[in-house]
Amino acid sequence: MSLPRQLLADFDAMLRQKGYDNRSLAIADIVRAWLVEQRRANPLQEIAGAITLVYDHHKRHLQDHLTDIQHDHHHMILATMHVHLDHHNCLEIIAVRGQAGDVQAIADALIGAKGVKHGKLTVTSTGPDLAD
Ligand code: NI
Repeated sequence: MSLPRQLLADFDAMLRQKGYDNRSLAIADIVRAWLVEQRRANPLQEIAGAITLVYDHHKRHLQDHLTDIQHDHHHMILATMHVHLDHHNCLEIIAVRGQAGDVQAIADALIGAKGVKHGKLTVTSTGPDLAD
């Protein structure tokens, strides 16, 4: 493998900034991140993920609606953590596992619910499909 000299220099500078001991570890991490992103595009691929939501629990019916969605897909919801950020705002972190297309659909339903201020789905591997 060869890279343009300046690109490699920039890469090495970033490695040091990120605290990597060597180039190989960093390249392996980048390749794994790329594989996870590519596989996510296949709706049948088994993935794990975390959905984060921020919302105001005083909004009428919102909390019930978010809970209903999760119960409808209980087989894919691994755990939910609810944090009361302040008097109004809640942070919910929902661990999910399932086929990428199904996980994305649940995330879209939760994030798109009226009253959710911000939501994000972070996708990762379930582990076995990634070499360490
Ligand atoms: Ni709360």
